[in-house]
Amino acid sequence: MAAPAVVIVTGASRGIGAAIVRRLRQAGATAVAVSRSPIAGQQSQPHLRSATGRLHPIIADVADPSACARVVGETVAAFGRLDALVNNAGMLEPVARIANGDPAQWRYNLDVNLLGPYYLSRSAIPHLRAVGGRIVNISSGAALKAIEGWSAYCVAKAALTHFTRQLATEEPQITSVALRPGVVDTAMQALIREAGPGVMTEEKSTYFQSLKDKGELLDPDVPGRVAAWLALSAPAALNGQFLDFEDPRLADAVQDGPGP
Ligand SMILES: NC(=O)c1ccc[n+]([C@@H]2O[C@H](COP(=O)([O-])OP(=O)(O)OC[C@H]3O[C@@H](n4cnc5c(N)ncnc54)[C@H](OP(=O)(O)O)[C@@H]3O)[C@@H](O)[C@H]2O)c1
Repeated sequence: MAAPAVVIVTGASRGIGAAIVRRLRQAGATAVAVSRSPIAGQQSQPHLRSATGRLHPIIADVADPSACARVVGETVAAFGRLDALVNNAGMLEPVARIANGDPAQWRYNLDVNLLGPYYLSRSAIPHLRAVGGRIVNISSGAALKAIEGWSAYCVAKAALTHFTRQLATEEPQITSVALRPGVVDTAMQALIREAGPGVMTEEKSTYFQSLKDKGELLDPDVPGRVAAWLALSAPAALNGQFLDFEDPRLADAVQDGPGP
């Protein structure tokens, strides 16, 4: 029997990352779950009782280059292989106009959203090359448009999307994709509703509030399933692509399940 796939998922303590980890384990993969705070409760969730995949939590801040090298080193030491890296950890702050924001917060945003994926990819590449593995970068619609008050986030996500193309160009043995996960009911959306008014235009603040009020935010499992499928099964033809979670090229395959 083939050894289970081993996948590093950052930002796994809640939200989309926790959903990716659940889907990977349901598909039998080993999930190395990275976050700054401990992963709580995954073992006791009823829908995971039938999950066969292992959970291996690692506490790390992806803004720290040595911590990123440790995550990859510990994974390969524990499981002898690495099949995929999902760069999901992200942060929105600072929510502030460029003229008013704190430069230290702006820099930390880029450390987390952009440099973390770079550090992890750099350490992971030799192991991913060896198995024809995959890198899934969780991007955003904000990579494509400017939203007032989100300058660090929009710039970081645009750069992360281009970093994905760069990976595809330099590492053809690895399949690298950027995924737009949709507008998802997580702590990040709660922060937008709380910190956005007065910084974003009234029209945009009202839009995000109305998505919540009308129950139109996505469940994290929706992009979680797509990201898990991409980590385990994305074909080489998608290398370097920016994909929407509803991309028709993914629909049929994702319907069939998150596993290979
Ligand atoms: N929610 C949306 O509508 C939406 C839309 C587009 C894109 N996205 C993207 O989707 C990804 C997940 O977002 P989410 O909505 O699930 O957000 P979330 O609920 O705020 O979760 C963010 C996750 O990232 C982790 N994290 C943050 N900073 C970290 C760091 N320095 N090192 C390690 N882990 C860190 C957090 O854990 P700790 O705090 O424990 O470290 C948490 O597990 C992000 O990249 C986000 O930009 C979300």
